Amino acid sequence: MVDEPPGEQSGIDDPLFADAMTRDSLIVRPELLEVGHVPDQNRIIGRDAEIEAVASKIEPVIRDEPPSSFIIYGKTGTGKSLVSQSVADRAQRAARQNGVSVGVVYVDCSQHSTETQATSAIGRGLNDADESGFSIPRVGLSRAHYYDYLWDTLDTLYDAAIIILDEIDQLVNNEDTEGGVLMQLTRAKESGKIRTNVGVVAISNKINYRKSLNERVISSLGDDELVFSPYDGTQLQAIMQARTDAFRDGALDEAVIPKTAALAAREHGDARRAIRILRNAGDIATKEGADRVLEDHVDRAQERAEADRLRELLSGLPPHSKYILLALANLDAQDDSREEFRTTDVYEAYKSVCETQASDPLGLDRVRDLLRELSFLEITESNKTGGGRGRGSFTLHTLMNSPEAVFEMVEK
Ligand SMILES: Nc1ncnc2c1ncn2[C@@H]1O[C@H](COP(=O)(O)OP(=O)(O)OP(=O)(O)O)[C@@H](O)[C@H]1O
Ligand SMILES: [Mg+2]
Repeated sequence: MVDEPPGEQSGIDDPLFADAMTRDSLIVRPELLEVGHVPDQNRIIGRDAEIEAVASKIEPVIRDEPPSSFIIYGKTGTGKSLVSQSVADRAQRAARQNGVSVGVVYVDCSQHSTETQATSAIGRGLNDADESGFSIPRVGLSRAHYYDYLWDTLDTLYDAAIIILDEIDQLVNNEDTEGGVLMQLTRAKESGKIRTNVGVVAISNKINYRKSLNERVISSLGDDELVFSPYDGTQLQAIMQARTDAFRDGALDEAVIPKTAALAAREHGDARRAIRILRNAGDIATKEGADRVLEDHVDRAQERAEADRLRELLSGLPPHSKYILLALANLDAQDDSREEFRTTDVYEAYKSVCETQASDPLGLDRVRDLLRELSFLEITESNKTGGGRGRGSFTLHTLMNSPEAVFEMVEK
């Protein structure tokens, strides 16, 4: 996305009315505060090492050699989607300058979660009907057909391709075909289906994801993976500072950005959360007719952002993770004096939830895995206690939100 002066995005070209859409709002360029916004490369803050690491894996495409395929892990809002797209675009440009044609496609697997949908989305994202002479229908073909189209697209248009599969854990794994999309893509060249060099960048915020892959997929993805760490408070401030032109001049009280950064860094340094709080604060201040955004607006925005975040995280969870969360919320709601619960207690409560849901409970080990995942996502917190003499160590789980918030979201 190219940065444009205000007025231009409104579509109104008469200067008399150019700011009619934004006149009263403290936020004059809302697109800068949208989650999908890709800031230009100079505005990506604190991710130099990650950018270098991604670049070195896909760099071979520039020499028309096969790039690596790999997984990026990291907590939510740590720049995984942003950095991978930005680096892939830059590699494409650099390759073009070297006479190599590189296709780049970004697919959010939570929107295209079956193999057929994903293959269709990848093919359509890469295809250019004017160049290839064919267009790919969005729906209606078999999986095999979509693969044929994809291989044709790659071979007709590109020397190499970088395929970014975001939220890869949302992809439904089809073990009946040969390992699903990941395997097909990473093995397509060696199995003679295409001549194009393909690199897959798979992104996930679930640490357990790798476990769910079969050996052959893991080996085609290579051993190394990149882990993006959370931002610190200073980096969060800089990320927001780079977007203050979203606001009308002077509309941000000087305490707003430090305060927002502190709130966003409380669990882990999550840039999405920081930007969302900032935007909500701007909306709240605007709605109240304030002429500046103040600390108090930030406080209220934080509560709203909390609810948004929980809703989003929950929507990506499988049913049994939700049952576990409900179990923990039940335990928490039952007893005012306790908020930490042992795995075995959570497991018992979980079995009751399964009963009410008429669903067979998973085994204890699997529930442990899912609990670990919930705590990685910071929906819950898990602490191992040392135990004492003669008492083994055990893990205690705590809900990060109020049980009411969980009930409300899960019911929706
Ligand atoms: N280093 C950065 N500089 C500027 N903006 C950033 C930076 N990192 C993240 N952002 C912004 O924060 C938001 C979240 O980043 P991004 O979508 O890349 O996170 P993510 O790691 O993919 O999170 P999730 O796991 O939830 O998908 C985006 O709007 C992005 O533009
Ligand atoms: Mg992302």
